[in-house]
Amino acid sequence: MNYIVVLPAAGSGKRMKAERNKLFLTLRGKPILMHTLDVFEQDPDCVGIWLAVKPEERMIIQEMLEQYNVTKVKGMPSGGAERQHSVYACVKEVGNDAELILVHDAARPFIEPSVIKQLTQKAYETGAAIAGVKAKDTMKRVRNHIIEETVDREQLWMIQTPQAFHTQILTKAQHQAEQDDFLGTDESMLVERLNIDVHVVESTYDNVKMTTQEDLLIGEAILQKRQQ
Ligand code: CTP
Ligand code: MG
Repeated sequence: MNYIVVLPAAGSGKRMKAERNKLFLTLRGKPILMHTLDVFEQDPDCVGIWLAVKPEERMIIQEMLEQYNVTKVKGMPSGGAERQHSVYACVKEVGNDAELILVHDAARPFIEPSVIKQLTQKAYETGAAIAGVKAKDTMKRVRNHIIEETVDREQLWMIQTPQAFHTQILTKAQHQAEQDDFLGTDESMLVERLNIDVHVVESTYDNVKMTTQEDLLIGEAILQKRQQ
């Protein structure tokens, strides 16, 4: 299933406590951003990549794309103050170039091609599908450090990216969110507001988002295992 991928990469990585955008930190000598881009560069179903970047980082990213032979990037619009704005900046540029848009955090370099395949298939058939994994721990709702309720874990999923949508659905959801001044933490929230069913595809626990320093250790370990 052909798709276009939008990769928000315009964050600053505050929780990583690095001196620069965490996406430039390396795993096995290669920048995180380039690991993520490589997944889509290698996927024949991916027909174009849009990257949201910080204007002051556009040049260095451009150089990296050449260094790592990434050829599918079609646009690099400037990101916004929030992740949602960065994604919207890309989606506006994509226009009607593709039937299916997949949004994926640039900070998740370990997404499995098989999950992308299932997700794009499901989104193509239904309109909206996102990646997630079942919660592993016992889950409780807590207020002021006191348990209010133990939540049925069977119904709880930890949601990741990629999130895939028919282009029209995502565009409509983003437009509506902007009109309503609504800020979500993922694209699915915007689509849910339109009362459209969003399907969840089971992903893998190693699709971690490089967020804090510990994640870099996990990332190195995942790469080591995969390269054995
Ligand atoms: N992102 C973006 N534009 C923003 C904020 C985030 O494009 N205004 C991107 C990040 O670059 C990252 C992805 O969205 O690839 C997921 O966000 P997150 O992991 O929160 O990254 P940061 O916002 O950079 O990190 P932090 O929240 O710790 O500052
Ligand atoms: Mg953030």
